[in-house]
Amino acid sequence: MIKQDKKLRIGLLFGGQSGEHEVSLTSAQSVMQAIDLTKYEIIPIGISKTGQWLTGENVHQQLLEAAGEHPMLAGQGTGTRQSHHSLALSLPQTGPLDLIFPVLHGTYGEDGKIQGLLELLNLPYVGAEVTASAVCMDKVLSKEVFRAHGLPIVIFRAFLQKQWQTNPDTVLDECEAAMPYPMFVKPANLGSSVGIHKAKNRTELEAGLNDAVRYDRKVIVEQGLEAREIEVSVLGNDEPQASVPGEVIPSREFYSYAAKYLEESKMLIPAPLNEEQTSMIQQLAIMAFQALDCVGLARCDFFVEKETGEIFVNELNTMPGFTPLSMYPKLWAASGLSYSDLLDRLIELALARHQEKQTLQTSFDVATAQ
Ligand SMILES: Nc1ncnc2c1ncn2[C@@H]1O[C@H](COP(=O)(O)OP(=O)(O)O)[C@@H](O)[C@H]1O
Ligand SMILES: [Mg+2]
Repeated sequence: MIKQDKKLRIGLLFGGQSGEHEVSLTSAQSVMQAIDLTKYEIIPIGISKTGQWLTGENVHQQLLEAAGEHPMLAGQGTGTRQSHHSLALSLPQTGPLDLIFPVLHGTYGEDGKIQGLLELLNLPYVGAEVTASAVCMDKVLSKEVFRAHGLPIVIFRAFLQKQWQTNPDTVLDECEAAMPYPMFVKPANLGSSVGIHKAKNRTELEAGLNDAVRYDRKVIVEQGLEAREIEVSVLGNDEPQASVPGEVIPSREFYSYAAKYLEESKMLIPAPLNEEQTSMIQQLAIMAFQALDCVGLARCDFFVEKETGEIFVNELNTMPGFTPLSMYPKLWAASGLSYSDLLDRLIELALARHQEKQTLQTSFDVATAQ
């Protein structure tokens, strides 16, 4: 336990320029309501959909109202990328902060970019650092790391937008030679199932690729499984622990944007798995977390093939949905750690990690070089 004489001033970063802006507003509200105000002072810092950083007591309400007026999906809505990040102006107005809790999901929040800024400011922050955040966001790089660590993954192929545009038939042939239909086509670096398509034949694969390349310069095509979707919450720095697994039962054919946010998909906690499967999935979750060099938290998502029971690691989300109704905190609650205790733990982990970094040498004396 880290003992504090005075309240820790925590900058709560929320909103952001991704399709999960609204989810982030809900996550942030839950954190503000549940956090122990005898120990912490919360300084809300909202990031608008156009990238403006706002502080002040009403910022949450302001963003909530703005969100209702301008609904958006990632890569759409605000159109193309904007660059209004006015951090340099707004952070000094908050006074000194002891720690940042970036409750930001998706692009520009969960992908290492904010984390890079916080590193430059040398501020402690909750969750994965730059490299882990960025690699977890990249569905191709993360699968390559999983494979290098011997973790089970689906068959996949990756292509650049350029390759697709210049040699579409070669791309389609390569996919068909590598795996059977159905296939899943995804932009390499997005979330919330945006731009993801299930393709049951060559025509659908072509349509899926045409759409996916609109979102990213790199796309991934995966073998589509008939699988259950199992998720595990991982928490810790160098000695991470895994929660009980949960199961998502999507309301649609797959866990699409609509199934995630517009409709009620069911959650089963704990997931109905036998002991052996449970412990295997928990071990794989920790191995995946360590393979990608995560710290703090991540939700590890799996596929368990319905017919064979075979387990595949799908992805790690380094800032998963964080409302009390979200899978990540619910899995911890089911494992005996309440929402507010989870917040304490994440803050402790962030401070511990930051302290550790301060002890590392960042320069060396040329005179003593060997
Ligand atoms: N290889 C696959 N086989 C079967 N279903 C898949 C596959 N890949 C993705 N899906 C479905 O699409 C959803 C979103 O894919 P995912 O890779 O998790 O992207 P995101 O980062 O957007 O959550 C999954 O939750 C699942 O329902
Ligand atoms: Mg997913």
